[in-house]
Amino acid sequence: MQEQARIVKKTNGTADVKEERVSPLKYIKTSEIRQDEEYETIVPRPSQDDYSTLKESIQNVGIRVPLIVDQEFVLLDGYTRYKAATELATPEVPIEVRQFKNRLETMLFIVEINVARRHLTVAQKANLGLKLLSLEKELAKERQIRKPGSVPPILVGQKCETREAGEKYGRGKVPPTLVEPIEDSNEGMALTHAAKKVGVGRETLRKAKRVQDKVAEYPELGDRWQQALAGKDSVDGVYRRLEILETEHEVSSPTQPVIESYSELPVDQIIFGDCIEKLKVLPNDSVDLIVTSPPYGENRESTYGGVPPKEYVGWFLPIADELRRVLKPDGSFILNIKERVIDGERGTYVYELVLALRQRGWRWVEEYIWAKKNTTPGHWSTRFQDRWERCYHFTKSEDFRMYQSEVKEPIGSWAKKRLENLSEADLTRLESGTKSGFGRNISRWVGKDTVYPSNVLILATESSHKGHSAAFPERLPAWFIRLFTKEGDLILDPFLGSGTTAVAAINLGRHFIGVEKHPPYFRVAQQRVEEAQIEFAKNGTPADYFLPVSKTNGEG
Ligand SMILES: C[S@@+](CC[C@H](N)C(=O)[O-])C[C@H]1O[C@@H](n2cnc3c(N)ncnc32)[C@H](O)[C@@H]1O
Repeated sequence: MQEQARIVKKTNGTADVKEERVSPLKYIKTSEIRQDEEYETIVPRPSQDDYSTLKESIQNVGIRVPLIVDQEFVLLDGYTRYKAATELATPEVPIEVRQFKNRLETMLFIVEINVARRHLTVAQKANLGLKLLSLEKELAKERQIRKPGSVPPILVGQKCETREAGEKYGRGKVPPTLVEPIEDSNEGMALTHAAKKVGVGRETLRKAKRVQDKVAEYPELGDRWQQALAGKDSVDGVYRRLEILETEHEVSSPTQPVIESYSELPVDQIIFGDCIEKLKVLPNDSVDLIVTSPPYGENRESTYGGVPPKEYVGWFLPIADELRRVLKPDGSFILNIKERVIDGERGTYVYELVLALRQRGWRWVEEYIWAKKNTTPGHWSTRFQDRWERCYHFTKSEDFRMYQSEVKEPIGSWAKKRLENLSEADLTRLESGTKSGFGRNISRWVGKDTVYPSNVLILATESSHKGHSAAFPERLPAWFIRLFTKEGDLILDPFLGSGTTAVAAINLGRHFIGVEKHPPYFRVAQQRVEEAQIEFAKNGTPADYFLPVSKTNGEG
């Protein structure tokens, strides 16, 4: 056996590098090394490229970092180097001998050494975190077994072999359930601890654990997890898939039969899934009003998934065609949307969408502005605070229903003063100076308490209370619902989010259908809808739904 002094490079905290001589290296014959399948699979294998680079380096300069083995030369760490050495027929390899109390502690060591040393992806770290969790759980059990007087935990299907367990549960008996389960708080602490050790967020490790726990139920997750370990998916991506599988499982059948008649419509229900699929089951001309706020054009996937600006029109048009098919001929479609700033410029996809919708047969009747009342000030070097969003009004025909008097507002205190002192000009129709055709005859307002609002709706944002990052205020859909429908009519929101449109419809005695594809929002929406139904049955429409929205005419 050849011996050689080992040189370890070590930084001293500054830019220069110091060399430190540590214990001499031991060399053994490569053929003496023994492998252990379980140890080998603890850490992820490198990619083919990384492996080739390592092999080339070993061919040129030999193995620089010793393999770690136990006293029986069972390989603990260095499986990739060992594989390369074997393939290169390297006769001897450097080793460092480490001994641990038992197998569990050996595995803990392997996990820890690899976390500290290797460049791992988040999914790979999370995978090691899972391993740590299960090892530590096993160790905790082991320690308890050894504690004098303690009754060891017994796993399902395991016989009570020890004296203590036998006394408690009957010697040789198999307890029906896990005895002494690890408490939730212990599990929580173990999760925090393991996440910290492997360098991922606790939430990431929790998601990875849930995925792992569900693989037996949803085998597809096993493949997705392998994809994540290979860098082709993420922990979040696999977890989102789990949420979808669970929600599909929870809400009866993911595919619904085509509905032939209005009476079979899934009225007052939230449909889970992608609206492009789910809208297809609804019959033609069945909905009175569509109010919706689709996901924005995003370069990246955000909380609930965005659509790249370049693909936006192509993505939205098939959905818009379905919306047009299901909308009644005299119904309306309100589209709440605002283009994002991309690379310092406002995107043009909303304009392109409007033109494309017109080409597909939609009539663009009006553009309402939702001006936000409660935004937080800020500073942007090339623009100011963005304080408004569009609400486009589209229809299928010129002959659409609109109940304007339903949204009339108190005339406001300013009017009293103005109308007390009418001039001569006020008594005749004053044509607009811009020849726009809009004139005014102020004397016609004398004795009137209410006026029509403008197309600017001034409403506070509310999203922080609704479990959705882009929820609109209830009063926004409520205002359009009052303007375009009557009690008992049917409102559709194909991008329901946290359920705001459904809540507004319920609160105004209308029916709704909502579609949402993101499980967490689907659940929030379901809960809000249930609460709104109970609340509406008790108290009717909330009074604030009738507050004026036009600042100029009232309180807003
Ligand atoms: C802007 S948010 C809607 C927010 C909603 N107005 C509210 O008040 O909560 C858009 C929603 O559409 C959902 N979504 C995105 N694509 C979808 C699709 N193809 N089918 C159904 N829902 C979708 C997203 O998960 C998100 O919750």
